[in-house]
Parts: sequence; structure tokens; C-alpha cells
Amino acid sequence: MANKMKELGKRLDGINEEKTKFNLSSNVQEKTIVPRRETHSFVPALNVIGRNKEKDRIIELLIRPNDDGAGKIAVIPIIGTGGVGRTALTKLVYLDDRVNKHFDHKVWLSMPVEFEVKKITRDILESLGQKGNNDGFEMLQERLRNVLKNKRCLFVMDDV
Ligand SMILES: Nc1ncnc2c1ncn2[C@@H]1O[C@H](COP(=O)(O)OP(=O)(O)OP(=O)(O)O)[C@@H](O)[C@H]1O
Ligand SMILES: [Mg+2]
Repeated sequence: MANKMKELGKRLDGINEEKTKFNLSSNVQEKTIVPRRETHSFVPALNVIGRNKEKDRIIELLIRPNDDGAGKIAVIPIIGTGGVGRTALTKLVYLDDRVNKHFDHKVWLSMPVEFEVKKITRDILESLGQKGNNDGFEMLQERLRNVLKNKRCLFVMDDV
């Protein structure tokens, strides 16, 4: 390990020398957070290639009977390197007829950088056809509960 550290030190010195040689200046600015672009659920399904197995597997998970009974929330994470096609795969699932038949409500949420529960609650209500207004959090929660009561709902939270 000591030798490796020495090697590393030499390499860094070398890089530093090159910096001077090529007249580079250090000018690192605070990276600002780039707001993520919102995503939506529409996709020409034909454009997505080779994801049928994954799609069917996820749909199976979504529509299998829930032994745990009502009130339990099942979460299916779709994980992968950025750009690998998570959103595309999820859209395929979201638009599938089996999924449409199974759920009473579907909501696609593009998660904002600032995770604000009240705003998300309002977004959900809006996409369920409830007019967005200036209700307080308590009221929003109650309305949401009423809308979702005894319903089977699918929420996609993209870009969590
Ligand atoms: N199976 C596929 N066949 C054809 N095109 C695909 C496929 N999967 C993804 N793409 C395309 O590749 C691009 C990136 O995919 P997508 O946005 O789904 O990735 P992601 O994992 O959600 O990335 P991120 O959210 O980090 O941007 C998109 O233009 C998408 O349409
Ligand atoms: Mg994505």
C-alpha cells in the first residue's frame, strides 16, 4: 500500500507539472444543480427493443394477487445506470393493457429535485382529475385518501 501511495504521489506531481507546462489554470466552479427534465409516460412502444422479458416480469409482479391484503403497499424498484433505459421500460409497463385492466388509477410522477410531499400530493390529485387549488396539507391528504380509498392504484415515481 505504501508503494502504491508513493506511485500515486508521483503521478499527481506529474499531472501538476503538465498543468504548468500547458498553462492550464484551475478554475473549478461550484456545480449548479441542473433541474432534471420531466418525463412523461407516452412512448411509441415499437421503438423500445428487446425489453419484453423484463416488461412481462414487472407486469407479473404488479398484477399478482396480494396476499398481504389491503392497505399494504408494494414497491418495485427499477434500478440501473443512467441512460440504460429505466424510463423507457417503465413506460412500456405503464401503457400495457394488462396493467390498465388491473388498476383503477394510474399516476405518472416525475420526481422533482426538491422532494416536497405537499406538492407531490397536489400533483397526484391533479392527475387524478381533481382540480388543484390552495388547500392546506391536511385537506389535500384527506382528499387524496378519499380518492384512493378501496382502489387499486399504480404510482410511477420516475427519477427518484
Ligand atoms: N430497449 C430500448 N430500445 C430502444 N431505445 C431505448 C431502449 N431503452 C431505452 N431507449 C432509449 O434510450 C434513451 C435513454 O433511455 P431512458 O430515458 O429510458 O433511460 P433512463 O435509464 O431512464 O435514463 P435517465 O433517467 O438517467 O435519463 C431514450 O432515448 C430511450 O428512448
Ligand atoms: Mg429515466
